Amino acid sequence: MSRTVYVNGAYLPEDAAQVSIFDRGFLMADGVYEVTTVIDGKLIDFDGHLARLERSLGELDIANPMDRDQWLEVHRELVARNGLELGMIYLQVTRGAPGDRDFLFPDPETTPPTVVLFTQSNPALVDSPKAQKGMKVITIDDIRWGRRDIKTVQLLYPSMGKMMAIRQGADDAWMVQDGEVTEGTSNNAYIIRDGRIVTRALSNDILHGITRAAVLRFAREAQMPVEERSFTVDEAKAADEAFVTSASTFVMPVVAIDGVALGDGTPGPLARRLREIYIEESRKAAI
Ligand code: PDD
Repeated sequence: MSRTVYVNGAYLPEDAAQVSIFDRGFLMADGVYEVTTVIDGKLIDFDGHLARLERSLGELDIANPMDRDQWLEVHRELVARNGLELGMIYLQVTRGAPGDRDFLFPDPETTPPTVVLFTQSNPALVDSPKAQKGMKVITIDDIRWGRRDIKTVQLLYPSMGKMMAIRQGADDAWMVQDGEVTEGTSNNAYIIRDGRIVTRALSNDILHGITRAAVLRFAREAQMPVEERSFTVDEAKAADEAFVTSASTFVMPVVAIDGVALGDGTPGPLARRLREIYIEESRKAAI
């Protein structure tokens, strides 16, 4: 069944949707995106994703083309038109298509942003076989640019990192800068030692995960101590448990790092509990 997608104000069948070859998202990765989870046909952490979208756009001097209620309406309309129960909504805003290639930003008066949204169904999102088994990660150098707090569509290195992991028989990669883990290719990274959850503090070095904020809040509410600080690869390999968070994986246990098994090599109890809490609480608060 063909999806209905949203492009610049129109709802269209996916194969009728078009964007210019001069779009700066296509030519220069000059755009930002968000991925919002849908459970039971409802949006998880919608306002968090919208706040980050607003910030990403602001950092790049792109005007936000819609207000909260307009964004919400498009999200809900896409959920309804596609009968989406479980999955994600992908949203992208680029600096638009000036009609030629030029490094300089076009005048926003004559070149409006390009807005694209589409749904991705994923029936295995909640009852995930991957979460039962846990994920194996490798570590790779973090050679991305210095503004990883902006959720831009420059995802070539994260894609390469995932391919490196798959080729080595793992599932994903954690990126490392000066010996310390920054984050996963498309998720935030955590270790657990002696019952304490450790994750890198927010800065321009990592994306400020919306799932991260929620999970840390739930952890603190459940009396699990949280340390927001950097950790080394060696510390991670010696940890009791590890996990990652993102809108598309929730809390996903990590069971091996560079071939070193954590604990008994199966998802740890705290990561499993956090996953349950996250899904339950997010379901309750979904809109
Ligand atoms: N990725 N760090 C990076 C580099 C990410 O790309 C993501 C999200 C996260 C987690 O952010 P959040 O909890 O807000 O999803 C951290 C999305 C899911 C993606 O690219 O598909």
